[in-house]
Amino acid sequence: MRKPVIFGNWKMNKTIAETVEFINAVDKEVKDNADWGIGVPYLALAKAKELAGNLNIAAENMHFKDNGAYTGEVSAEMLKEIGIEWVILGHSERRQYFGETDETVNAKTLQALKNGLTPIVCVGETLEQFEADETENVVRTQTAAALKDVCPNCIKKVVIAYEPVWAIGTGKTATNEIAQNVCAIIRDELAKLFGQEAADAVRIQYGGSVKPEGIKTLLEQPDIDGALVGGASLVADSYIAMIENLG
Ligand code: 13P
Repeated sequence: MRKPVIFGNWKMNKTIAETVEFINAVDKEVKDNADWGIGVPYLALAKAKELAGNLNIAAENMHFKDNGAYTGEVSAEMLKEIGIEWVILGHSERRQYFGETDETVNAKTLQALKNGLTPIVCVGETLEQFEADETENVVRTQTAAALKDVCPNCIKKVVIAYEPVWAIGTGKTATNEIAQNVCAIIRDELAKLFGQEAADAVRIQYGGSVKPEGIKTLLEQPDIDGALVGGASLVADSYIAMIENLG
């Protein structure tokens, strides 16, 4: 039985003061019906980690090298020093705006695992690819590339987030049927790469305009084990509604 894993992704939102306010409101409402968490901008991570007792706190990115001349970057060791155990990698916004490639996502995934961090690895097709019926090919390729050289024992720790780019921040959620079909394809790719037993252990999230009202039926889909939530994770009441609605 895979435990649901539901994370907010705050993206470039919330100051430290706003982070404190959110965690004070939400942390005490967290139930054991899922691994609940939030991806928080670097600057507020330490404070978030200090205050959160129930919420898991994730970085939204990380560099793939141990240290060195990489101006503006943050390493796994720096995240670990403040107790961070999760990191979101390869989000489509990083691929689209910051030159993230399948190769860098792979290097970051390996670096996260080497350092004992749990990576949430994002994959997903663009609108153009969706309309050209390329979704299956894109998600299989991205999944295989991101997980190249991941050791068979490590794969069960990885969380995959399927986020169709056309559904992110657009209010256009993929139907549960589409989301389920693609998550099943990702699991099939995992089975090809790592064997069925490992594939059955990996948790796969859907992300893209997820709302509190939709969370329960989304997670009833057999291959969907969680969600990565942008907009609806920014407001405390909306986050709490997700916790409550999951049951
Ligand atoms: P929205 O929920 O705002 O569509 O964002 C999804 C997302 O990108 C989560 O990583």
